[in-house]
Amino acid sequence: MVGFARMSTKKIVVLGGPGDGFSLAEAIQFAERAGRDVKLVGFLNDVLPRGEILHSVPVLGALNDWREVDSDVQFIPAIQKVGDMPQRARRIEDLRIPDDRWGTFVHPAAVVSSDVEIGCGSFVLSCATVQPAARIGRFAGVRAGAMLGHHCEIGDHTYVGPNATMCGRSVLERGAYLGPGAVLMDGRVMSQFSLAGIAAAVTKDVPEYWVVFGNPARRVGWVKRPQSKP
Ligand SMILES: CC(C)(COP(=O)(O)OP(=O)(O)OC[C@H]1O[C@@H](n2cnc3c(N)ncnc32)[C@H](O)[C@@H]1OP(=O)(O)O)[C@@H](O)C(=O)NCCC(=O)NCCS
Repeated sequence: MVGFARMSTKKIVVLGGPGDGFSLAEAIQFAERAGRDVKLVGFLNDVLPRGEILHSVPVLGALNDWREVDSDVQFIPAIQKVGDMPQRARRIEDLRIPDDRWGTFVHPAAVVSSDVEIGCGSFVLSCATVQPAARIGRFAGVRAGAMLGHHCEIGDHTYVGPNATMCGRSVLERGAYLGPGAVLMDGRVMSQFSLAGIAAAVTKDVPEYWVVFGNPARRVGWVKRPQSKP
């Protein structure tokens, strides 16, 4: 018999819980049911007690307890929150989890071009489409039905909401947030930690920490800055 080494199952712990954590957990379990070598083994969550069952797997501890998790398990964070992205980015980085312990996950029903690079700690959910030459940074979340056009770039800790569209060569810098159903015009740049609300039509570059919404999108406020930069 010709021997092919069987790849070991990728075991994943989700950082988070009810909310985006459940969306990611369900996606991982969907992949498992679809025959992929992946398994959800639990959550790390700062609020819920250890041992509580979420989405049929246990809370294994708080985020800071990651060192107690078996070394063959990888982590994926799903703790992004609208308006709180700078703090959430800092929370993830302050954990000092080594790069090789961060996993990535792409839903079996997502369509990701073969040349796309995906950074560690990032995930792409169902029915998302990522076109050729796009780049996805670390700890980024691409939600269900989102579309990243060709040559788009999304930086570390970015969020692309459900059904949001990034037209070709558009960019989300570190921590930028493109809300559900929003559209970012070709080549436009959302600077770090800026936020476009639901259904925004973003036709111009958005400066850092601005909040915009509407069609065309206009500035309506600012994202709260952290005490010192994350
Ligand atoms: C942009 C956003 C953060 C602004 O929130 P906010 O500052 O708390 O705004 P409010 O909810 O207080 O609304 C203020 C006004 O703006 C309007 N408004 C809010 N968001 C709007 C949007 N995206 N487009 C147009 N108008 C909007 C409200 O209707 C309200 O109008 P009113 O003063 O006439 O009553 C928020 O609207 C948003 O889009 N959040 C994203 C939601 C999300 O990502 N959810 C999780 C993923 S599914």
